[in-house]
Amino acid sequence: MNREAMKTISSNDLILEVRDLTATVQRHGSERPVIEGVTFSLARGRSLGIVGESGAGKSMLIRSILGVHPPGVTMRVTGEVRLDGHDMLRLRGRERRRALAASVGMIHQDPLRSLNPTIRVGEQLTETLAFTGRSTRRDRAARGVELMRSVGFRNSEDESRRYPHQLSGGQRQRIGIGAAALTEPALIIGDEPTTALDVTVQKRVLDLMQETRERTGSSMLLVTHDLGVAAERCDEIIVMRAGRIVEAGITAEVIAAPSHPYTRALLDSIPRLDGPRLRRLRVPETGALS
Ligand SMILES: Nc1ncnc2c1ncn2[C@@H]1O[C@H](COP(=O)(O)OP(=O)(O)OP(=O)(O)O)[C@@H](O)[C@H]1O
Ligand SMILES: [Mg+2]
Repeated sequence: MNREAMKTISSNDLILEVRDLTATVQRHGSERPVIEGVTFSLARGRSLGIVGESGAGKSMLIRSILGVHPPGVTMRVTGEVRLDGHDMLRLRGRERRRALAASVGMIHQDPLRSLNPTIRVGEQLTETLAFTGRSTRRDRAARGVELMRSVGFRNSEDESRRYPHQLSGGQRQRIGIGAAALTEPALIIGDEPTTALDVTVQKRVLDLMQETRERTGSSMLLVTHDLGVAAERCDEIIVMRAGRIVEAGITAEVIAAPSHPYTRALLDSIPRLDGPRLRRLRVPETGALS
């Protein structure tokens, strides 16, 4: 049996399994918990929204799963994380980076921060391919143009030669999605990928993420403080507060009957301006929602 087949069987049908995850950060000589006892899993091909207010621990949860700690911060993470068959908390340095490059595509809130201002976007889009070392520079340039076309750049030959500051926020985020999908990773993670964009651009970027996911068959973790976005885009939802999961379930069930008062408060805070979406989300006349 080849390695690929073994991996699929041993990791079951779950792309991600997180068990009793706890993370602390050290500050002023004392340890402060930022994630406490978090357990959840995600099946291959499915999408999960991670929702909660600012400071709830959404980004720290992603960091803890990936083992990517904020610079200059001492973090201690315990528990278990299996990602696409990798035992993440036991992998170090190069091995961990390899596992991440092979299995995860990450989309950041602000793609400018992850894009190098001095390298043309087409070129940096395909940088990862140089890292995995199976392509020539010319292959990569062609792939960059093709990839930009797949994320909606009509004039991609020209546009691939631009620098990040020559693109709009929405265009940069489309580059971010292209980069995340480059290796057709088993899991795409977006940490507030559309928060910095205005509403119409937000919708286009989320649509593009969805199309990309359908094309590559990836699973998705979507971090957002907007329960409406998670409800619309994800099969399942977990709600976090102060480093813990306070609610978890299939999206339709969470929305129809939130068990935690905090989820209800989040539901009530979805802007009423967005009438059609809300009407679709809300199950009429259920007491649980009032
Ligand atoms: N670089 C850091 N050093 C120390 N503590 C941090 C750091 N970043 C976040 N924290 C702490 O970790 C906790 C969780 O923060 P986190 O950034 O995960 O929240 P979040 O849910 O992603 O919020 P937001 O919606 O604002 O992005 C907070 O108490 C925060 O103060
Ligand atoms: Mg965050």
